[in-house]
Amino acid sequence: MTRKRGSESSITSDSRRALLKGGLELGGSVAGAALVGSSAVRAATPDPLITEVQDWNRYLGDGVDASPYGMPSVHENEVVRRSVSWLTADPKSSVNFTPLHALDGVITPNGLCFERHHGGVADIAPSDHRLMINGLVDTPLVFTMEDLARFPRENRMYFLECAANSGMEWRGAQLNGCQFTHGMVHNVMYTGVPLKHLLAEAGVKASGKWILPEGADPAHMTRSIPIEKAMDDCLVAFKMNGEALRPEQGYPVRLVVPGWEGNMWVKWLRRIEIGDQPWHQREETSKYTDLLADGTARRFTWEMDVKSVITSPSPQAPIVHGRGATVLTGLAWSGFGTVKRVDVSIDGGRNWTTARLDGQGQSKSLYRFYHEFDWDGSELFLQSRAIDERGHVQPTKDALRASRGENSIYHNNGIQTWHVRPDGTAENVEIS
Ligand code: MTE
Ligand code: CO
Repeated sequence: MTRKRGSESSITSDSRRALLKGGLELGGSVAGAALVGSSAVRAATPDPLITEVQDWNRYLGDGVDASPYGMPSVHENEVVRRSVSWLTADPKSSVNFTPLHALDGVITPNGLCFERHHGGVADIAPSDHRLMINGLVDTPLVFTMEDLARFPRENRMYFLECAANSGMEWRGAQLNGCQFTHGMVHNVMYTGVPLKHLLAEAGVKASGKWILPEGADPAHMTRSIPIEKAMDDCLVAFKMNGEALRPEQGYPVRLVVPGWEGNMWVKWLRRIEIGDQPWHQREETSKYTDLLADGTARRFTWEMDVKSVITSPSPQAPIVHGRGATVLTGLAWSGFGTVKRVDVSIDGGRNWTTARLDGQGQSKSLYRFYHEFDWDGSELFLQSRAIDERGHVQPTKDALRASRGENSIYHNNGIQTWHVRPDGTAENVEIS
């Protein structure tokens, strides 16, 4: 990994030494691990929160079972999915957004995964659910949930991004927060049966080239998927992050189509038809094209392009600590595989520094990046730019518009800019 030196002030080894010294004086045990700026930690002064015994330290709290299914702390009750009221006419065919600004790491907690459905959430008892495989197969089959549980299963982590994520930003900066600009993405550890096992059980005929998964919801969602993808890494998943799928996410079973448009990940999966050609006339695929300036459209844009966003600082996660040591963090992903590098800029793309990719990262999954810097209190124009294993580089919004025009809704992977003001508040802007 090459490290490009930007002009922004990074923490120098001198100030780092001073910080470590400060850390030692304050407590010692975290010295070396802590990276705190001179202004980041206050010297010990008399503070009632330290010197007085507090209620929570004095009175017994709830016992076990106060909440048989645990909930987050009440102090976190702002961390919820949110929708945009003017976006859709009706909440039954609508979308809400993952609060990316408030999360860290790469796993999206189940209760915070954005929801997108076209006909409301189907309420299905697992005992009443069936999955049928028919069409160009040797033996049409019907599986119960118990049947599915008898096939070898795998656990894999993948992001799901709606093709319309960032769609409202095509013509310019609009929504003030990464929850709304980028929150149609979530990242989950799925447990499921590789689809190829189920297809092998039914025996796909040589003429079978496409599959058409169909949902049991009133929207009867269907999408044509080439058989090569179905045989490659698709999963028929019934668990997310260890527990049963949430109703919103397709309980009791959904299709996982790694790296590809969220629309193809059919929820409440009840049937998979095998055919010799796609069913484009009667399904969603016809809509999922990218209209270009010359009136033609891009089709079959299944992979989600390389993309990233800074989640903090951002409009919903302003800098509240003032100048000094500041942690910038964000998410990156690519439907083509792994993310190789993320660069960040604090001056609107004039200078770039390679961010620190945290953890191992997994193909077609979210990556977490960090960049620690010393904020001098002046205004910032924060940007991030991801590069994937194929060498795809996240484009500027101007470059994207130059190639695709402004009529598109889908596949906006342009570089996002947050303007941070000297008071630490931040706003969604575009600069050229
Ligand atoms: N599956 C069914 N049966 N019905 C739907 O409306 N919406 C699709 C897809 N699968 C949909 C569906 C769309 S457009 C997206 S982006 C993803 O589900 C959203 O998945 P999520 O709700 O788990 O975030
Ligand atoms: Co979608």
